[in-house]
Amino acid sequence: MKDITITAKATLFSTMSELPLADKELMQRAVKARKNAYAPYSKFSVGAALLLENGNIVIGNNQENAAYPSGMCAERVAIWQAGALFPGVKILKIAISASSSITLVDKPVGPCGACRQTLSEYEINQQQPFEVIFMGEVGEVIKTTSLLSLLPFSFDKSYL
Ligand code: THU
Repeated sequence: MKDITITAKATLFSTMSELPLADKELMQRAVKARKNAYAPYSKFSVGAALLLENGNIVIGNNQENAAYPSGMCAERVAIWQAGALFPGVKILKIAISASSSITLVDKPVGPCGACRQTLSEYEINQQQPFEVIFMGEVGEVIKTTSLLSLLPFSFDKSYL
């Protein structure tokens, strides 16, 4: 028996304006997408923007439903749109921003577990890590160099 340690490396920026230009521009697209979220039930809006290797930016936002579980997160709306529009084109980065009309979201909001799992499929298939950059509405921004670093011991097709 031995203990093992799993670590994740991330970079913390004190505000969005500290981000490198390309990341800031992508985050601005996520913020814009967030403002068009359909979140009448949770009042919690999320926007995501993906930068693809071909230069295209694909956005998504959360889409809720009166039948609550039928709604969908911003990250999955975005990545499935990228898969539909640009199949096989590599993803370089995803930026995510979240806000609430009830409270000020001033901490970085990472993708939920189901979104991490969904995003991991694409990172594995493209055999190249993509950056994940996330924030709330204001305040600190976290940037990681790979999706899988956020999902240790994850499930993938090698088990099937
Ligand atoms: N949500 C996202 O869009 N992404 C996440 O990673 C976490 C949660 C959405 C789903 C729901 O519409 C609202 O935020 C509250 O959970």
